Amino acid sequence: MGHALGVDIGGTGIKAAIVDTDTGELVSERIKLPTPSGGEPNDIVATVVTLVEKLGGLGEGVPVGVCFPAIVRNGRTMSAANVSKKWIGLEAEALFEKALGRDIHFVNDADAAGYAEVRYGAAKDVTGLVLLTTLGTGIGSALIYNGVLIPNSELGHLIVDGRDAEKRASYAAKERSRLSWKSWAKRLQKYYGHLEMLFSPDLFVVGGGVSKSYQEFLPLLSLSTPIVPAVHRNNAGILGAAALAALPR
Ligand code: BGC
Repeated sequence: MGHALGVDIGGTGIKAAIVDTDTGELVSERIKLPTPSGGEPNDIVATVVTLVEKLGGLGEGVPVGVCFPAIVRNGRTMSAANVSKKWIGLEAEALFEKALGRDIHFVNDADAAGYAEVRYGAAKDVTGLVLLTTLGTGIGSALIYNGVLIPNSELGHLIVDGRDAEKRASYAAKERSRLSWKSWAKRLQKYYGHLEMLFSPDLFVVGGGVSKSYQEFLPLLSLSTPIVPAVHRNNAGILGAAALAALPR
């Protein structure tokens, strides 16, 4: 039975747990600490080390997966839409590896969440193209084709009606502008309609905390692609990061 440790770094909180990567179940408690204000690299790394210690440290040979809200190329963070700009261009994976004394698998947060839904959730056994979006502070996206992740799709930054899509259609945008479900759904309709035209996916999965209220907005959308809520929501990043870390390389 394979166990791996997953860490999910977000703009407001950092969460970690140990995962049974065969079943996708948590085998430890899930612990969470607030993201240090400013979201600076050294502070975030220190918080991750604390979380790992709180989980009892790293067992011999246990893979570690860490997900982060930025483009991740060869271990380097290449963007910083909702975290400190100091992450841009940083050898982030190496920084975590040094602090933890262990190789890690480092991945974009939405990619991890999408992979979790394909392995253990709403898109399990779905063939073809699955497109997951997380509706939170920003919009994250994951493209998974026949179980294989195509990383760093960044479809939250599509320009729709001349604006960065996440600025109009994320859950934060709904909160900021105090939009009703109906007004927000109009923006989501444009966004998902555009994605559908570009990608012809077989399934849309909608993640992020707001997906627990999916009945308020998914029925208002008119798309030809099936669209379903994510199953894992708060744990998806942890599960996906752990599962990706446990893949044979
Ligand atoms: C970032 C993505 C991230 C998403 C969700 C976007 O603003 O560009 O990398 O996956 O937010 O956190």
